[in-house]
Amino acid sequence: LSTASRFEQELESRGRLDNMAGQVLATLFFEPSTRTRLSFETAMLRLGGQVVTVADPKTSSAAKGESLSDSMRTVEGYADLIVIRHPQKGSAQEAAGAVEIPVINGGDGAGQHPTQALLDVYTIQKEKGQLEGLTVALVGDLKNGRTVHSLVHLLARLNTRLLFVSPPSLRMPEEITAEIRRMGVAVDQTEDLEAAMGQSDVAYITRIQRERFEDPAEYERLKGAYVVDRAMVNRAKAGITIMHPLPRVNEINTDVDGYEGAAYFRQAANGVPVRMALLALVSGRE
Ligand code: NCD
Repeated sequence: LSTASRFEQELESRGRLDNMAGQVLATLFFEPSTRTRLSFETAMLRLGGQVVTVADPKTSSAAKGESLSDSMRTVEGYADLIVIRHPQKGSAQEAAGAVEIPVINGGDGAGQHPTQALLDVYTIQKEKGQLEGLTVALVGDLKNGRTVHSLVHLLARLNTRLLFVSPPSLRMPEEITAEIRRMGVAVDQTEDLEAAMGQSDVAYITRIQRERFEDPAEYERLKGAYVVDRAMVNRAKAGITIMHPLPRVNEINTDVDGYEGAAYFRQAANGVPVRMALLALVSGRE
């Protein structure tokens, strides 16, 4: 986070840095992405590096049946580091095991999204001016949402009180909740969004992850479970910060966008300095 903060300031004063000059980043995205891929690529370009990409799996040899490991070994011959997003849980780990160069997980199915968690914590620090001792509500599809699976692991180290707000069928996986509790973190699970927002310093809203549902009818039933609008924000704890990893579908009404604590587009922008820091740090070029 401190490296990200330094890069953010240097970017403001100098425009472009050269830490990654002569290096090539490969971004391999086997699942849709706007923010993660583009902010990694922007980060690499702002550090003076270059980028090759697979933005659409239909255009790569994965579509011909190539194994992940063979694709990785091939790309290792072209690039100095890799960011991968893939629908399979555990795929980033498998990809990292196939090559010697750094591999960064840009989201592995319903598993983890660790770089998002770092930019989320960076955002909380910037928005609140502190990281420790906050009450944070995580709202929505906690079962399938990889951003919250990663975020709780960082929040658990920051003396945070956690409120998990979801429909019963979309609760945080029990092994994650148990692990967080073992770390001594206070966790409350509830369905009551209004009550949670009344106590929270930060509300982290997430999308119901339609692509992880086997039954489309079940998605239709749950998609409107929580919608935050301006009236609800007005009734929440004063000064509450509203975050969302984006994309939003309908979980946050656009009438919230003008609220000064609506941080989600600032949060997306924070992806650049945080990913600059990650790229430079894994390359020993910070
Ligand atoms: C998230 C993801 O891909 O997991 N998006 C992102 O990276 N900012 C959240 C989502 O898709 O709901």
